[in-house]
Amino acid sequence: MNRVASILGIKYPFIQGAMSWLTDAKFVAAVSNAGGLGILGPNAGQHSVTTSADETAERMRDQIKQVQQLTDKPFAVTLIVTGSSTSIFTKKILDVVLAEHVPAVLLNSLGGVAGADFGVDPETMAVLKGHGIKTVVRSLQPSIEDAQAVEKQGADVYVATGFDEGGTLPGGEIGSFAIMPMIADAVKIPVLLAGGIGDARTVNAAFALGAEGVYVGSRLIPTVENPAAENVKQLIVDSTAEDLTLFRTVPDYYRSLPTKLREQMIANDKQLPRDEAVKANGKLMGGTSGMRIGMLDGDLEHGYVSVGTGISMVHAIQPVQEVITDMMRDYKA
Ligand SMILES: Cc1cc2nc3c(=O)[nH]c(=O)nc-3n(C[C@H](O)[C@H](O)[C@H](O)COP(=O)(O)O)c2cc1C
Repeated sequence: MNRVASILGIKYPFIQGAMSWLTDAKFVAAVSNAGGLGILGPNAGQHSVTTSADETAERMRDQIKQVQQLTDKPFAVTLIVTGSSTSIFTKKILDVVLAEHVPAVLLNSLGGVAGADFGVDPETMAVLKGHGIKTVVRSLQPSIEDAQAVEKQGADVYVATGFDEGGTLPGGEIGSFAIMPMIADAVKIPVLLAGGIGDARTVNAAFALGAEGVYVGSRLIPTVENPAAENVKQLIVDSTAEDLTLFRTVPDYYRSLPTKLREQMIANDKQLPRDEAVKANGKLMGGTSGMRIGMLDGDLEHGYVSVGTGISMVHAIQPVQEVITDMMRDYKA
């Protein structure tokens, strides 16, 4: 039996990537009902920012309760944990995860970026393990050292993210094709591949490279259930990897489909010295505000549209169930 499916109690070793602003209870439940593991990401189900940790946690509780009404299948919640410390936001969300009996979590760590430790916050890991909660770890920057540290800490599953992905790009600049066998050879726990997976061919390729499952973000945005704006879903369907441009920003790189804001960031990248371009573009993006404005509100002037290079395989906006069934059509349990 496939280890990822068996550990997480799911039909397919298919995990939906946590995507800031672009998940909600309906979408996550659709993924879990289709046989994958849905993950409530940062700002799940929200259209506005709150600076209150209590409100952030209560918003997440509300989404968790909605998922539990829509599916009886396993799902996960994202916890952002750096190597040595954890924010009050994460602590409050962890309390909610425990109180609401969420079966699995995605742990987002830094993977040694900017001097951070490898692995995840040991205290959080101990609490999760003590409660029997399954742990999927995805570091901002995957590496051999990070994967081994995470394995030693007792994580259930590690995600190797290649440079082909959408969202915050790993500064290591290693493509999905190369990172997968490198990490699979370094650890014994199951490894999933993230980055550029968009159809059955790329799922099969991931398995051929040593993956025991796939971790998919961009392909799931142009789906009926995803909360992204309709014009953004259609833009993704109408675009290919050739329409994406890479630019430097905090912490390293992003890429976006054409928007007015993207053009400003490309200009900064071309005209300014590296550090200045990173700073200027980080400011323009406003954390993930530019993602909310571009992708959730559909404002292609003031926001950006961050997706991975796998979008060339997307030809229609489809229900989540159809997408996952088709992507996993060659998978044998
Ligand atoms: C719009 C967007 C937002 C994302 N936001 C997050 C996030 O908040 N946290 C996270 O761990 N990963 C985030 N990611 C990365 C995904 O979890 C996943 O690693 C990635 O989508 C996989 O590559 P793919 O897009 O080629 O499928 C985001 C990806 C996208 C496309």
